[in-house]
Amino acid sequence: MTNGGIEQELNLRRKPSFARPAGWGHPSLRVQIWGLNALSTNPGFASKIAPWSIQDVDRLYPPSCGGALEDIVSLVPIGEPRQKITVASLRDRKLHHQPITCLTAYDYSSARLVDEAGVDIVLVGDSLAQTMLGYENTLSVTLEEMLHHTRAAHRGVKHALLVGDMPFGSYQADVNEAIRNAARFVKEAGAEVVKVEGGEKRADLIRRIIDAEIPVAGHIGLTPQSVNVMGGYKVQGKNLSGIEQLMRDAVALDRAGVACIYLEGIPREVAAMITAEVATPTIGIGAGPDCDGQVLVFHDILNLTFAPPAKFVRRYGDAAALITDAVQAFRADVDTRLYPSDAESYHLPKETRTALETVLERKRAMRR
Ligand code: KIV
Repeated sequence: MTNGGIEQELNLRRKPSFARPAGWGHPSLRVQIWGLNALSTNPGFASKIAPWSIQDVDRLYPPSCGGALEDIVSLVPIGEPRQKITVASLRDRKLHHQPITCLTAYDYSSARLVDEAGVDIVLVGDSLAQTMLGYENTLSVTLEEMLHHTRAAHRGVKHALLVGDMPFGSYQADVNEAIRNAARFVKEAGAEVVKVEGGEKRADLIRRIIDAEIPVAGHIGLTPQSVNVMGGYKVQGKNLSGIEQLMRDAVALDRAGVACIYLEGIPREVAAMITAEVATPTIGIGAGPDCDGQVLVFHDILNLTFAPPAKFVRRYGDAAALITDAVQAFRADVDTRLYPSDAESYHLPKETRTALETVLERKRAMRR
């Protein structure tokens, strides 16, 4: 891991072994101080965590504050210490009108970045079929592939709720098989919730999975696993019968006790009606701003999809440009022998170099 050596000096993810001093999490101190000794005895760290100063640290936590301090600092910015997100805390968010954030992530590094950025839910969506595996749609991705990616994401997530998407074919045929497959997400891959597409017609199945102690997220509206039945990726609920069906779907999932309901590709007005009707938190994607939360696909917000974005996608960065520039610069440096430099090379220890020179000199002398 190349991070300027900071991680070697500071264990970024270890917990403090001492009681929290008063003032912990003070909003002006935007860095968690696990150990002051490291800061005060290694002045070089101060510049690495600018703009937060040692003075701030000393003011809030004078050396006299006691406790067995470790030489560990976390650079994760905080206001309040972060709580683990659970199914119960999602409901709480809805109750208190606090927006819920969700992003897809499909591997260790992206899941860790999403989690550390404070997103509430990491969804290992079956959209990984396209974004990670290059399939044409979500129908081809297998249960084993979904479990593989969920396991990887799980290793990067500490605080967010981890939702694993049950792929097409893993829950439609047989209830017992569906429960067994859902249990694999929990047991083998660390998912805390499994997601199942479909509303009213899936309610009994969802009840059975919940009865098996596995929380379920619902997903209605434009459900990509039904692409062949829908005749394409079309916004759903645009006429009165469509609206009525969506309302029935949402109420059925609410009564079945799902953890949250993903609303995809439906008119804003319908999403607002559903959100007002059900006690379950709704999380929209292409469903307007009135849902209890919003989800987007990681690759969409970073321009990593090789396709024009859908109407609802907002791009927050251009990772494609960043990666292309970096890769081209590397290639050019190798082509022109600018990489690696001497400073980026390992060298023989002095004694070995001297000994080697003696051996080589002896060989040259013998050849003469
Ligand atoms: O697979 C996925 O990414 C999803 C979201 C779009 C909700 O199901």
